[in-house]
Amino acid sequence: MNYPYQIKTFEEYQSAYKRSVEDPEGFWAEIAEHFVWRKKWDKVLEWNFTEPKVEWFKGAKLNITESLIDRHLATKGNDPAFIWEPNNPEDRTRVVTYNRLHKRVCQVAQMLKNNGVKKGDRVCIYMGMVPELAYAVLGCARIGAIHSVIFGGFSAQSIADRLEDAKAEFIITCDGAYRGAKDIPLKSVIDDALIGNKVVKRVIVFTRTRTPISMLKGRDVWWEDEMEHAEHQVEKDGIVSFPAEEMDAEDPLFILYTSGSTGKPKGVVHTCAGYMVYTNYTFINTFQYKPEDVHFCTADIGWITGHSYIVYGPLSAGATSLMFEGVPTWPDAGRFWSIVDKYKVNILYTAPTAIRSLMGFGLGPVHGHDLSSLTTLGTVGEPINEEAWHWYDEHIGKKKSPIVDTWWQTETGGILISNLAGVTPSKPTYATLPLPGVQPILVDENGKEIEGNNVSGNLCIKAPWPSILRTTYGDHERCRLNYFSTYENLYFTGDGALRDENGFYRITGRVDDVLNVSGHRIGTAEVENAINMHAGVVESAVVGYPHEVKGQGIYAYVIFNGRHNDEELTRKDILQTVTRIIGPIAKPDKIQFVSGLPKTRSGKIMRRILRKIAEGETQNLGDTTTLLDPAVVDEIKNGRI
Ligand code: WT7
Repeated sequence: MNYPYQIKTFEEYQSAYKRSVEDPEGFWAEIAEHFVWRKKWDKVLEWNFTEPKVEWFKGAKLNITESLIDRHLATKGNDPAFIWEPNNPEDRTRVVTYNRLHKRVCQVAQMLKNNGVKKGDRVCIYMGMVPELAYAVLGCARIGAIHSVIFGGFSAQSIADRLEDAKAEFIITCDGAYRGAKDIPLKSVIDDALIGNKVVKRVIVFTRTRTPISMLKGRDVWWEDEMEHAEHQVEKDGIVSFPAEEMDAEDPLFILYTSGSTGKPKGVVHTCAGYMVYTNYTFINTFQYKPEDVHFCTADIGWITGHSYIVYGPLSAGATSLMFEGVPTWPDAGRFWSIVDKYKVNILYTAPTAIRSLMGFGLGPVHGHDLSSLTTLGTVGEPINEEAWHWYDEHIGKKKSPIVDTWWQTETGGILISNLAGVTPSKPTYATLPLPGVQPILVDENGKEIEGNNVSGNLCIKAPWPSILRTTYGDHERCRLNYFSTYENLYFTGDGALRDENGFYRITGRVDDVLNVSGHRIGTAEVENAINMHAGVVESAVVGYPHEVKGQGIYAYVIFNGRHNDEELTRKDILQTVTRIIGPIAKPDKIQFVSGLPKTRSGKIMRRILRKIAEGETQNLGDTTTLLDPAVVDEIKNGRI
């Protein structure tokens, strides 16, 4: 496969960018020609940000799996679509060719059909990083069911909330998952999530760890049984087929829940055509993928990075995508580097937190690894600090592999601001320039555009790109309020950014009450709600503070009047509660017990003060005279941990 729309020089980037702004419809229509359509679109783009309403390739009919899989079968059926590296390096690896992937996806589609899943139904997927997770995602897409993948680190309560919000009737899970030295009991978490649930009709369970689990008659079935049965149905005389469901361009493809500044996570909805075109375009251009390259994105498919750059983007480009079940530090901190050598990985895409954590082990685990196959490095998820950037560049890329610092979000579906590997200039800690089709703008508090260079402000986007979120599931008003109402006619990202003298963007972090912990987004309100669920907690306030490895750590101030007065044990109790309500990823790193919180006379918590104290700044706390009880600030300062 060659990529006629792969940008090869800085000049080509500039002209593509110019064209994409002046004639977005013509620009994207030309790219969209290179996909499989059952019927072409009537109109490339219709939009307004007031409702909001965004429709790309309206009137077109397609099934995304035909562009991801079927179209490659004739030319590269025997080429690897996925390479799977298991948690334990001594276990058998798997290479999944496009032919094999086609067969498995057809089987899953048939299996889902046999179990009563129809187009538009929501299927919740809660699995470890096994190839079957990708088959499950694509099997849903093949029959037009809406997948909602939930990361394996979320608790039963989080799953229950998401199941209810999505009104999901079907679940695909595993008995358990391997993660480093740990076994995660996925099915048993699902069982807890389903207590009292009367909506879920079927749970399909893939065997990974063969850990003892409960299998409820009439509700739970084994993946292996169902797939065996389906195999007989989709394969006749050696020919495999399962007709793909015809979808509208704007039919939902998936829901992915993500945290915001208030309340419960929102179900971000992405649709078929625009998401397909944009993830493909950004994959090919940002990473400068060349046929036969091995692309290794270390994310979990439970996050948007895994959706877009392990599954959808790479497959639509006919690429080879490496899927890794384990963690970077087990059995040792050289795990990534052995994988790079073992499979001659060309593109490595990971998170700054992983880089920082591996840096902490020194160069020992890097030495002895060749790494010469690497041509491109990428980072995503949070701002990368200068030190980590240089370490990555020097010791992993050996100063010959461009680093792409890709800024984007669950809501954006694909990369919005990034250099293009080796094609456009890079600058440490800068995401640099927008991808074609993306129009960033910085605004001040009042929504007034901040023009010129060497400025900073709140980052917004002026016009839709093909994979912008369409709604938040079941609550369109929430989508409007969250992203389109802060500033009129703009998509508000929630991030702050600065623009340097060259017009390069540097993302400085969230400007709302959202934390970014190890590249994962967590709302402070959500963590507070979870802490407040603990008996004895009167009130709490959660803020972020700089953390050497995680980027941000979670600092909780808690007013407690419960029975026990052993602080250490109470801390542990609270951590257990947060683990139950959200999951281990939301556990505070520090809990400080306080007798009161700094509040204004109207009862609003002054987070600015709490943030400063958590950051270790005790001198310049700003104006505290408007506080109801200024004395509490001294107590908090003195009790800082
Ligand atoms: C938030 C989105 C999109 C994939 C993973 C995270 C932060 C993301 C960068 C980057 C600085 C970044 C932003 C953004 N972020 N990439 N390259 N430089 N910050 O997805 O959970 O939706 O979080 O992650 O703050 O808003 P997400």
